[in-house]
Amino acid sequence: MSEEAESKLKRGPRLDPAAAAFWDARYRESFTPWDAGGTPAALARFLAAERAPLRVLIPGCGSGYEARDFAERGHDVLAIDFSEAALARARAALGEWARVLRQADFFADDLGAPFDLVYERAFVCALPRKLWADWAARVAGLLRPGGRLAGFFFFGEEERGPPFGLRSGEPGSLLGGAFAPLADAAVDDSIPIFAGRERWQVWRRV
Ligand SMILES: C[S@@+](CC[C@H](N)C(=O)[O-])C[C@H]1O[C@@H](n2cnc3c(N)ncnc32)[C@H](O)[C@@H]1O
Repeated sequence: MSEEAESKLKRGPRLDPAAAAFWDARYRESFTPWDAGGTPAALARFLAAERAPLRVLIPGCGSGYEARDFAERGHDVLAIDFSEAALARARAALGEWARVLRQADFFADDLGAPFDLVYERAFVCALPRKLWADWAARVAGLLRPGGRLAGFFFFGEEERGPPFGLRSGEPGSLLGGAFAPLADAAVDDSIPIFAGRERWQVWRRV
């Protein structure tokens, strides 16, 4: 089924991953090899250790499983995606928590900053590399001083994507002096496309 969907997508119009239409087409064909189907263990551990409610932004939330985890633990979550087809999936997955979802463009829309936490999973690696400097500046602008960027970062050398892999050390150079590293660990429950090539990282907005 997924091979059929992939070949149908390849035969279709050439779409730009910086545009919602690229992602709409994939969700509509149920070709979503990045979808973990649930909450990764490192996030569950992170959530278990948090004591105070946080204002959380989840950019490019896709199916949005993690939005429910944050919300159920009392955090004030905004989960955004610019793809209507992604949000349709997320609404189905989140049930009563669908109210935390919003259709919005991470770069263009007013998201109501500041946030205490920006959660990252498979969002940076979905963006063409030419957008990464803008991504870093936007995250810095969305977080309050002392706020954190936490999540899963995909590393790889291939030119083509998505996923577009970060080079070793690249998150630090993109985030620059605006962030200090707090955590960096291997991930042992990755789904196949990310296996052995993603790391759990936490960065603090200085
Ligand atoms: C690879 S998927 C990952 C989805 C989800 N984070 C996950 O882990 O399953 C990337 C998502 O980012 C969304 N996206 C890409 N660029 C965006 C933008 N500028 N604003 C909002 N969402 C965006 C896409 O629509 C897609 O749902």
